Order: sequence, then C-alpha cells, then structure tokens
Amino acid sequence: MEFLSVQHLSKVYGDGNNQVRALDDVSFTMPKGQFLAIVGSSGSGKSTLLHILGGVDRPSKGKVYLEGEDIFAQDENQLAIFRRRQVGLIYQFYNLIPVLNVIDNMTLPVLLDGGTVDVSRLHSLIETLGLQNREKNLPNQLSGGQQQRVAIGRAILNNPAIVLGDEPTGNLDSKNAREIVALLKKANREYGQTLIVITHDESVALQADRIMTLHDGKIIKDEVIR
Ligand SMILES: Nc1ncnc2c1ncn2[C@@H]1O[C@H](COP(=O)(O)OP(=O)(O)O)[C@@H](O)[C@H]1O
Ligand SMILES: [Mg+2]
Repeated sequence: MEFLSVQHLSKVYGDGNNQVRALDDVSFTMPKGQFLAIVGSSGSGKSTLLHILGGVDRPSKGKVYLEGEDIFAQDENQLAIFRRRQVGLIYQFYNLIPVLNVIDNMTLPVLLDGGTVDVSRLHSLIETLGLQNREKNLPNQLSGGQQQRVAIGRAILNNPAIVLGDEPTGNLDSKNAREIVALLKKANREYGQTLIVITHDESVALQADRIMTLHDGKIIKDEVIR
C-alpha cells in the first residue's frame, strides 16, 4: 500500500462562465518519508493541491488516500481531527498568533486538540530550531527566519504524518531559506515525516527527493532525483 495516493483529482472553482479548473485530473503516489518539491508558474494549481492534501479544501472530483484511508470519505468533524493530528501546514507568512510567545504558539494546536504537550520533545525541537532563549518572545520580537522556525515547530510538534509547506522560504533571504530547508529536511529524516514543499526557488527544489512540475492544473513533469 502506498503511503499517499492521489487519484484523478480535479478542482473547479466558481460556476458558469466564471469557472476555473485549478486542478485537472492529477494522479500520483508517494512513499512514506519522501521529500517532494512542487514547482510551477503562478496559478498552476500548486496551493490548491496542497490545500486538498491537507484536508483544508475538498476536491470536485477524485480521491486522496493516506495510508489506505479515503480522507474525503470523512465528515467535517473527522476531517478537522485529521487536519489537527496528521497534517502540519507551513505558510509563507508564518501565520503566528501575535499575542502568544514562542512556546504558546508552538503548543496551541496540541492544546486545542485536547492533547498533552510532550515537554521533552518540545525542548529538543526548540533546540533543533535554534530557538533557545527565545521561548518567551512574541512574534514581533523575532526575525522572519526565527518566526518561520516557530511555525515549523508548531507544524511538527505533534508528529504529523505529513508536513506541507506553501512557499515556506518565499519571504526569507537566501541564508535563512537554506537554514529553513535544512531544518525541514532534518525533521523529514529524523522523524520519517513525509514532506511536500511548494517553491519558486530552484535551490530549494534541488534539496528534495523528487520534483513535480504543475502547469494549468496538470502534472507536466515528475522526476525522482535521489
Ligand atoms: N478560492 C478560489 N476561488 C476561485 N478561484 C481560485 C481560488 N483559489 C484558487 N483559484 C484559482 O485557481 C487557479 C490555481 O490557483 P492556485 O492553486 O492558488 O495556484 P498557485 O498556487 O500555483 O499559484 C488560479 O487560476 C486561481 O486564480
Ligand atoms: Mg500558491
């Protein structure tokens, strides 16, 4: 059984004359622990695909199986639980809560889910992310690179099966971008997390195990590079 299996996925936004086909019959599979980079011009459907894989949006047609389970066969409640427990999402602009410090931002999703924070994992993650001595800082007291490291910590603290990044380095200079990709790769290797990252940056894509190119909602290239 494949870890992730995407079958004939289509997504159409709007209706009548305003229809946009954001995804057009997309199919692929991924083994557990693979690092996939998704590239393609603006409007090619990258974010739409990522949002569907994360259970944030539903497809118009097609299926997504994670470890054999049809994720969209679930009702809204089950899907919300799937998102909280199995998916870690990282965005370009971090989306941290401005009034919460580093620790509280990182632990919020686990607490909202009624879970208990694994304190030793939290502290080892803080060290891995280079956020020691920043635990009590608010987001506006951190650099962009540090904020993105908090967002990564938040996304992976509860050990999700799949980590999804929508241009996570898009707002960072090249040094910070390299560090963020190195951290994502480290988590990918150490925790066996399957990682999918959308990027415009060729140096980021070349860090992946596989590069997929989207164009007009279709996969036009899909290469395993390591
Ligand atoms: N919520 C939405 N409503 C209507 N059209 C959308 C919506 N989200 C995305 N689209 C359209 O779908 C297409 C793919 O968008 P998107 O997945 O964001 O592309 P990318 O991330 O590759 O830039 C674009 O034409 C975009 O305008
Ligand atoms: Mg996008």
